[in-house]
Amino acid sequence: MGKPGSAVTEKSTEPGGAGFDWAALQEQATSAMRHAYAPYSGFPVGAAALVDDGRVVVGCNVENAAYGVGLCAECGVVSELHASGGGRLTRFVCVNGDGDVIMPCGRCRQLLFEHGGPDLELLTVSGVRRMDEVLPDAFGPAALDDYADHAD
Ligand code: THU
Repeated sequence: MGKPGSAVTEKSTEPGGAGFDWAALQEQATSAMRHAYAPYSGFPVGAAALVDDGRVVVGCNVENAAYGVGLCAECGVVSELHASGGGRLTRFVCVNGDGDVIMPCGRCRQLLFEHGGPDLELLTVSGVRRMDEVLPDAFGPAALDDYADHAD
């Protein structure tokens, strides 16, 4: 969050950005949201993320008559990340049908952690947060590596 005496805005440089334009990333998430397929929940979601090479990848939720196999918007983000060349996510935002910022669901925090790690910054309902704030002590690839290093 902002330093004492400084306003936290959508262009806040806190915690790590140098004047990053969060409003522009939110607008890209909102554009993606307009392509959502959410006839069952009636809750369209759009997501957008900056990649470490400057690309922006987006996604929208895609539901299914078999409710449990519906795809969150974040699934689209990580699919586009890899389909368009890979890399690491550095900034992320997701929005509802009004274009308002929402929190990624718990499962999708795990999904984002895999592809952005603890340093990934998210625009959240309470300002810009690091991944290790919204998913503390995350399970991730390091846990598998640690085990493999000493397992027979
Ligand atoms: N949804 C997402 O796409 N991402 C989230 O992080 C939260 C939930 C979708 C799933 C479902 O299609 C709809 O929102 C209602 O839960």
